[in-house]
Amino acid sequence: MPNFHTRSLKPLHYPCTYHDTTFHWQARSQKGNVLVLATCRGETFMLRVLPKEASGFLVKGDKVTRPTQASFLQKALIDFRDASDAHVSHSNIEPKKFLDVRCSAYLKEIDFFADAFDTQKEIWVEIGFGSGRHLLHQAKKNPHVQFIGLEIHKPSIEQVLKQCELQSIDNIFVIDYDARQFMEFLSSNSVGRIFVHFPVPWDKKPHRRVFSAAFIEEALRVLHVNATLELRTDSDAYFSFVFEQMMHLSRADVHVKKNAALEITSKYEDRWRKMDKDIYDVILRNEQASPDKERIGRLAFDFHVDFAKVREAFEEILRRGEGFFVHFEELFTIDEHSGLIRLSFGANERNEKCYIFIDHATMRYLPERVLDTKSNRAAHTLIEEWFHGIRH
Ligand SMILES: C[S@@+](CC[C@H](N)C(=O)[O-])C[C@H]1O[C@@H](n2cnc3c(N)ncnc32)[C@H](O)[C@@H]1O
Repeated sequence: MPNFHTRSLKPLHYPCTYHDTTFHWQARSQKGNVLVLATCRGETFMLRVLPKEASGFLVKGDKVTRPTQASFLQKALIDFRDASDAHVSHSNIEPKKFLDVRCSAYLKEIDFFADAFDTQKEIWVEIGFGSGRHLLHQAKKNPHVQFIGLEIHKPSIEQVLKQCELQSIDNIFVIDYDARQFMEFLSSNSVGRIFVHFPVPWDKKPHRRVFSAAFIEEALRVLHVNATLELRTDSDAYFSFVFEQMMHLSRADVHVKKNAALEITSKYEDRWRKMDKDIYDVILRNEQASPDKERIGRLAFDFHVDFAKVREAFEEILRRGEGFFVHFEELFTIDEHSGLIRLSFGANERNEKCYIFIDHATMRYLPERVLDTKSNRAAHTLIEEWFHGIRH
């Protein structure tokens, strides 16, 4: 991430514009951390200024409100550095470094699946595609199918995006998202196959496994009748765990195969085969249609609150519910009527970060696209409870 260290910063008078960037306001927390709202090249996001004991300040982009291009952030940092006469001691924002960041048409943000995803094609999903050998092979072989590839390992994502471009494959959407939370975004009865090949077994932390009773239930909801959820694993423990979860389902039929050959093998599979390990396939076939489910919307507040009261009541707290949490991390003050609360919240496995922006009694999330998923809604209810005593 682009950033610079400086021994000093001249205070700016907000709002002000310097070259390509308008700086709207700054907000300061009790810890001395500062947020600066900036608009550069049509996008609005924040910079963070963090005091460093030995060396002045570290100035960098705010990860929560980041722009679509790292080069916009880089330009805003350069403008902030020059507008505030920074005496830079270390920097990685020289022009060449971030300018050629590539946006891939194959890579989708989660909002795409909440708002725009609509296809007449059959949908197949691969979870944890790793090197992508199987995903790319299936996509080439089945051009009538729209593939969704889920992965949380960034180098694997980069590698597959590059291959999609090199091989001109146009029926894959890649998303960097935890598979356990993703199924919620798919319509009921819309998917033909879900592949989960060699998931991490997590023998010591089973709650981190992709498979759970809740995951299987959501998978069955999105599968159409006769569609399949397909696990391939070399782990005896994972196989037994999944088989046990599936045995009691009345709406689906389970098949198990041992050491069946696939047309394409992954690096993992090649390794296990060399070691003569057994490989299991567990195939769950859905037998029932599911009720429709509404598209996921956005969460918002429908009450007002005075910032002065928020400032008085604020303390750093962590609240937990079943499978989700809310952490009120830091309060930032812009002036007596406005400020922000930095929050992390959502499902235990997926830590979302955002701000609540309070401006003359109105309240909104920043960024405004906090999705109305099950765990976010549960966290939102806890957040609303926190405001209960002080809201209008
Ligand atoms: C052992 S690798 C297998 C990769 C590939 N399927 C193969 O057969 O070679 C497991 C992959 O799942 C990904 N993964 C783990 N947990 C995940 C999750 N909750 N959601 C999406 N991907 C996940 C990991 O990043 C990793 O690339």
